[in-house]
Amino acid sequence: MAVANQNFRIITVADNEEAGRVAAEIFISLVREKPNAVLGLATGSSPVNMYKAMIKDYLENNTNYTDVCTFNLDEYIGLPSNHEQSYANFMRKNLFDHINIQLKNTHIPNGMAKSPEIECVEYEKAIESAGGVDLQILGIGSNGHIAFNEPGTPFSCPTHIVELTEQTRLDNARFFNSISEVPTQAITSGISTIMKSKQIVLIATGAKKANAIRALLEGSQTEDVPATVLKNHPNLTIIADDAALSK
Ligand code: F6R
Repeated sequence: MAVANQNFRIITVADNEEAGRVAAEIFISLVREKPNAVLGLATGSSPVNMYKAMIKDYLENNTNYTDVCTFNLDEYIGLPSNHEQSYANFMRKNLFDHINIQLKNTHIPNGMAKSPEIECVEYEKAIESAGGVDLQILGIGSNGHIAFNEPGTPFSCPTHIVELTEQTRLDNARFFNSISEVPTQAITSGISTIMKSKQIVLIATGAKKANAIRALLEGSQTEDVPATVLKNHPNLTIIADDAALSK
């Protein structure tokens, strides 16, 4: 079911699998319309089924990614790109290795950069020189974070270095052998970087996302819940299941 609001559209789905199929359709139709589209990508569990649906479509319909360019939201500081839990590795495994995208057109902040500060500035510039992100996929943290913009991050922030909160490290610990292995810092696209995307699709499934979605849909805009900034975006689609919408 799709509900249109003044600024955003909510599409209610049964589960993450359906969310993935619906989100993939939006991405695939953009790539067909604009073969050199700039896609903003995310890691985490939310977009995995979307990537699966894009791979399925690529195999069945030959959607062409040769001229597509991508920018990921974030990367852990201190993990080399070949580390199993690096977001670079995640993207290769879950999408890039299975479609005909050119790896040279894919961008992920370099978590091993000598100067992470310079890496942030250059990453922001690279997005601008590519013409900006046409379509951004987002997940949402249980505390309302988007990318690694944790509660309290100014809405005006560009790409920057973050200290990960204990909550986020705990949420991500399932991917590591123990919490002590979860990095403490990351490079993340800022809220202002995300808001410059021409179109945003947010996937929220599962009860853990209910408080954050409630704040986004019903609460006032506050830097304490970073996702509430999205209400200001002119072209936002929220794809959510009943559990995420339950509050
Ligand atoms: C990932 C990212 C994060 C996740 C968020 C939700 O690139 O930027 O903000 O989108 O932590 O994670 P999942 O999807 O695992 O629930």
